[in-house]
Amino acid sequence: MNTPKFKTPIDASIVKQEIKKMGLKSVGLASIRELNRIVNNIETASGEKYIRMEMGVPGLDPPEIAVEEEIKALKKGVGSKYPPFDGIPQLKHEISRFVKNFIDVDISPESCFPTVGSMQGCYMAMMCTTRRLKGKNKILFIDPGFPVNKRQASVVGVPYDNFDVYEYRGKKLKAKLESYLEKGDIASLMYSNPNNPAWICFTGQELETIGELATKYNCIVMEDLAYFGMDFRKDYSLPGKEPYIPSVAKYTDNYILLISSSKSFSLAGQRIGMTAIPDKLFNSNGDNLEPFFGSSNFGYSYIFGAMYALSSGVSHSNQWGLAGLLKAVNNGEYNFVENVKEYGKRAGIMKKLFISNGFKIVYDMDDDKQIADGFYFTISYPGFTGVKLVEELLYYGISAISLTTTGSDRHEGLRACVSLTGQDRFKDLEDRLISFKKDH
Ligand SMILES: Cc1ncc(COP(=O)(O)O)c(C=O)c1O
Repeated sequence: MNTPKFKTPIDASIVKQEIKKMGLKSVGLASIRELNRIVNNIETASGEKYIRMEMGVPGLDPPEIAVEEEIKALKKGVGSKYPPFDGIPQLKHEISRFVKNFIDVDISPESCFPTVGSMQGCYMAMMCTTRRLKGKNKILFIDPGFPVNKRQASVVGVPYDNFDVYEYRGKKLKAKLESYLEKGDIASLMYSNPNNPAWICFTGQELETIGELATKYNCIVMEDLAYFGMDFRKDYSLPGKEPYIPSVAKYTDNYILLISSSKSFSLAGQRIGMTAIPDKLFNSNGDNLEPFFGSSNFGYSYIFGAMYALSSGVSHSNQWGLAGLLKAVNNGEYNFVENVKEYGKRAGIMKKLFISNGFKIVYDMDDDKQIADGFYFTISYPGFTGVKLVEELLYYGISAISLTTTGSDRHEGLRACVSLTGQDRFKDLEDRLISFKKDH
């Protein structure tokens, strides 16, 4: 741990003391939640407010309609009744409409169900896909990615491979993917789109490549749509109208859609997400499922095996809240994209502030186009590794996580999340960045 040579915006002795108290080997390699704890502690000890960019939490209020519908359901007494494992029919129906309206794919309500956050959806997808077929038990992560997904793979007890996609965009993606898939043991592959942490978005051509290879090698794509509709370069907000949200679903039947309500609908606290599985896969059989789930049918294993064992469904009133919200979205009465566009506006300004103070955007392009302004962006500063930069920025009242924890090869980079930095904090951010630049 080095103490900065200059007087920094946050009292350096307090920063040092709080880092030391946490007893971590390296603050730059801390997990998101650990860093979050350190920054809370420094804020308390110093009385200074940080520019908090380490954690991806929504900074907007939950939609009124979801709150009202949930209250109504609670008052009706659903709290005393078990919900069906695979969701109340009204919600299943609205999820099916939702994927039709925004991705333009037909999936029956039976194969659409709520999960306890899309996090549980990811976990179930890993459990079921890696036990579907004999000889296929490995996951391939197209990185950079959400660190906890790899923790999930370890907890499930399955091996995984990963690679940083930065050098393999566009036409180069096919050969790279095939080098893993041709070994035959990859059960499923995972990526988020838009990507956490880099905010890259796969092009239609890249999604087509992934879909074709998933069919060719009988591997399931776990498409993590945690930031559904949040590539603001195009207007994806109108139900049933083009443009539709780009998805691998257009190019293969071997996919599972994992849709989060946390960011797009500002419902992170509710822990409710959605999974949609194409009917062909949902109704298919796997020769390795029976010993784990008591059935060789994929959909049955999912619901009466995995979901039963994990949480036996999702809290009842919460399902009514989401069903009410989705109904309004599907009917064109609530524009969820419009409500979260604020993140894109913030990112545009914050990126400029960083760049004009000597920082660089690490993941900067989607093939030949500049990446969008969204929930996250990635930064580096000449002469710093990401791990060192995390620590150094703490003295300047700015918190972010190192890309090293995300499976990225770009070890110079940090992920910055815009959600907790309202426009009222931009002046503070600018002052702190100016001070950082002056000192370095
Ligand atoms: C890529 C990715 N997947 C999944 C999640 C978790 O979503 P949920 O809150 O719905 O469990 C997040 C949340 O940050 C995420 O970034």
